[in-house]
Amino acid sequence: MAESSEKPTTNQSPIPKLDTTIKSSFHATNDVRRKWWKESIAYQIYPRSFQDTNGDGIGDIRGIIQRLDHIKELGADLIWICPIYKSPNDDNGYDISDYQQIMDVFGTMEEVEELIKAVHDRKMRIIFDLVLNHTSDEHPWFIESRSSRTNPKRDWYIWRDGKPGGLRPNNWESIFNGSAWEYDKETDQYYLHLFSRKMPDVNWECAELREQLYKVTNWWLDRGIDGFRIDAISHIKKKPGLPDLPNPKQLEFVSSFDYHMNVEGIEDYLSEFKRETYSKYDVVTVGEANGVGVDQAVDWVSEERGKFNMIFQFEATNLWEKTLGTLDVLALKRIMTRWEKGLEKFGWNALFIENHDKPRIVSTWGNDKEYWRDCATTFATVYMLMMGTPFIYQGQEIGMTNVRFPSINDYPDVAAKNFYNLELAKGIDHNEIMQIIYITGRDNARTPMQWDDSLNSGFSTSQQTWIGVNPNYVRINVAQQEKDEHSILNFYKRLIRVRKENDVFVYGIYDLILSSHKQIYGYTRTDSLNSGFSTSQQTWIGVNPNYVRINVAQQEKDEHSILNFYKRLIRVRKENDVFVYGIYDLILSSHKQIYGYTRTSDTKRAYVLTNLTDRAAQFTLYQGLSTSQLVLSNLIEPVPEHKDEKSFKFHPYEIRVYIIDYKKKEHHHRRHPHEKKKHATDELDDVEAALSPETTKTADSNVSLTKRQKAALDKLEQMSNNALQEPLQDARSILEAVAAATTKVLSETQPLEKPKSTTTKSISDTTDSDKVISADSAEIDLEHEPIQKKRERQRSLVLHLENITPTPPVASSSEQTTFDQPRRSFSTQASSKPSLKGHHADSSSDEDDSQDKRTTSTSELEDETSDTGGKDIDYAVLYDDSIEDFSFTYAREQAKKRLLRSSDPRLTQTPSIFKLPPLPSGSVSVLNLFELSRCYDAATENGQLAPEPNRPVTSPTNQQAN
Ligand code: GLC
Ligand code: CA
Repeated sequence: MAESSEKPTTNQSPIPKLDTTIKSSFHATNDVRRKWWKESIAYQIYPRSFQDTNGDGIGDIRGIIQRLDHIKELGADLIWICPIYKSPNDDNGYDISDYQQIMDVFGTMEEVEELIKAVHDRKMRIIFDLVLNHTSDEHPWFIESRSSRTNPKRDWYIWRDGKPGGLRPNNWESIFNGSAWEYDKETDQYYLHLFSRKMPDVNWECAELREQLYKVTNWWLDRGIDGFRIDAISHIKKKPGLPDLPNPKQLEFVSSFDYHMNVEGIEDYLSEFKRETYSKYDVVTVGEANGVGVDQAVDWVSEERGKFNMIFQFEATNLWEKTLGTLDVLALKRIMTRWEKGLEKFGWNALFIENHDKPRIVSTWGNDKEYWRDCATTFATVYMLMMGTPFIYQGQEIGMTNVRFPSINDYPDVAAKNFYNLELAKGIDHNEIMQIIYITGRDNARTPMQWDDSLNSGFSTSQQTWIGVNPNYVRINVAQQEKDEHSILNFYKRLIRVRKENDVFVYGIYDLILSSHKQIYGYTRTDSLNSGFSTSQQTWIGVNPNYVRINVAQQEKDEHSILNFYKRLIRVRKENDVFVYGIYDLILSSHKQIYGYTRTSDTKRAYVLTNLTDRAAQFTLYQGLSTSQLVLSNLIEPVPEHKDEKSFKFHPYEIRVYIIDYKKKEHHHRRHPHEKKKHATDELDDVEAALSPETTKTADSNVSLTKRQKAALDKLEQMSNNALQEPLQDARSILEAVAAATTKVLSETQPLEKPKSTTTKSISDTTDSDKVISADSAEIDLEHEPIQKKRERQRSLVLHLENITPTPPVASSSEQTTFDQPRRSFSTQASSKPSLKGHHADSSSDEDDSQDKRTTSTSELEDETSDTGGKDIDYAVLYDDSIEDFSFTYAREQAKKRLLRSSDPRLTQTPSIFKLPPLPSGSVSVLNLFELSRCYDAATENGQLAPEPNRPVTSPTNQQAN
């Protein structure tokens, strides 16, 4: 195996390898999962039928070059080209007579090099078909091998003596029908051929032979190709001793797959093959691995142990062949899901529904008449968006169909001819045999590519093409479909774009949904397994199925995501000390929707305003706020520009945070008296700021504030706010009351002097020096005052301010006290307020009505201001909320009641759809979570329950056992 590790020899002028940097779709990345071939869309060319350029009726290399732009425009970027090596063409090139020469009808080696370059120039890649299970009987190796029993190459093929009595060495049937053995008169021995008799199997047991195969493989890799599709590779190992197959039916030949398909020990050959060849190159390998099950796939395609990057397996396509009838959707789902789930963590699928060996999809699974376009596009979609590399077989992208030629002579396929002759010999009627060929024949896929509606569909100018053109080319052809926006071709282009533009279709985890639906094939692709939490099949607790929607990766990308809001929120807090050390004060305390509070330091005051309900809310502040002070909002649209705004309408769950810089205000104080009059509330604000405990040491004086003073001022704030809310006719009296209260409060705070009159004007006249107060610590020992006492004192202070006799606190802060009467007018204001368009107002009243007597209108927003009853500073109420013991039992009781109350029958019945499939105890699987999510989807999205109410819900895992 010395040659295999050699550098390309200098006289062979290898074509430069494709520079990975020019491939835009191939990200340079450290992510080990990312591979260019996972992101590719492959296109399979059957060269004989693609494009003829020299008029001999056979497609050629030049024809491929000529049509590369078709593939490029389609969006495919990885070309698999069926064998083009020298061959007598018994099996259209799969019978190779020289691995290092090009078949004459196809062209020359120079043209092949030109093709490779042309592909790379278009930023596409190309892989060749490597046939290593057999050669042509015209290969020099075989010619030598058959020449004598003692020839050094005798052992390169599989020669055996016949059984006594002129019988073949064993009863194996050829894949192309008839015996798998051919008698050779020259040496009186039989040779094995799993395919046609002109395709003898090479003997992989022979090291010398293997070495030669590796050599030709490397020779091609050095030509700069991007990898291989490796033909019939699961057949290279035969059951040792080549025994007869059991033959209970006494057949002449017995289907022999069991003894030559994926036979134990094959891994050794594959490992060596990989090691000696492509493991040294950045190429892709796809093994044609008939008979390899998903349970063995780890040995074939795992990233560590695998021999290939992908394999073609035929479980899904064989489905149709089993029945030759309607597609078994459930079985298809089982098979595809088995492979998708089976490989998702360690390997990669090759996805295909057509190739050169299979009849056309629209004529088998589909309906090439009434639903021709529909089924072509739907089959395209179902497999091309799965996890794996999708392969498109030429003509599939325009919905080419099966064909019916009258004579067996119209069918060049050796397999078809073999079948016909054998059946005919059995006495079967010609028409009957032809019917079978029409349905199953490989030549269905090999009729020439239909480019346009000119002679021979634009494939060839020859009178005689190597195989007949499907007469429907006048209708079904590329030129026509390019013009038609809704054509299958244009659908393919869109589909490929969707896949290319969305990584989730490449790397996202596949999960089946609607698993037991007999018509719908639905699946999801999700960015990463188990929400990126774990790569395990089973997590200790289930992952919330909504991780598909709600996840960090998605939110990092979205400027308006919750995650990015948190980042802003944290930044706002970090950058503003007031949120750490500022004193907290509740505002709008009796508003039923808004939770507002301020944080106050000696230089700043922050307003935190939140609507904690799912209804629009309205409120008025006494403090005007401006956009320039807004530091945080959770709206996606910018908050409308506002200046000194006092009345606010909040969307459901809207938040805003403002910060007012106090220093600016101090500047205001020093304005000349005849400048624009300061608003009373500003004054109040200033007064309060001056009195705030934070300002015990200001520049002007040594001021300290007792709790009592603070409470009084809080009350003032509320009252002032009330005043601003009163309808005009009441304003005057309210303002007078406020002023009176101000007088009282200020006089109580001893050093604070002369609140002059009972008008707002008088407040505005207050000067800085007016606010000077001194400590009041002698009066009450604040430190040691019992909390209950403190509350009572605060409460009585507040009540005292309004000349109200204290009443016992009421938990619901309802309007039953004397607070009601003088404030009644506030509650009816709602009806005169504008409604908030686009948001439902608080009309449904999911709160206890008895607590909401003030609401008279259901169609309009209630203006719940800071003072909805003068009871805001009911400290007793604030402090006396009874604290329920946290109890699951309690929570469950509540939930039960809620469910019972629900009038929605869907919530009270127990539909079968909510039943999960049985799981092994202690296990949770992703699949089943998806079942669960599917249940919810069905219930919520359709507005109804399962379409098939009593069907059992099974998971794909369960189905595998079927
Ligand atoms: C693969 C090819 C098929 C060929 C056979 C023998 O199955 O796809 O076309 O006839 O191998 O090489
Ligand atoms: Ca030609």
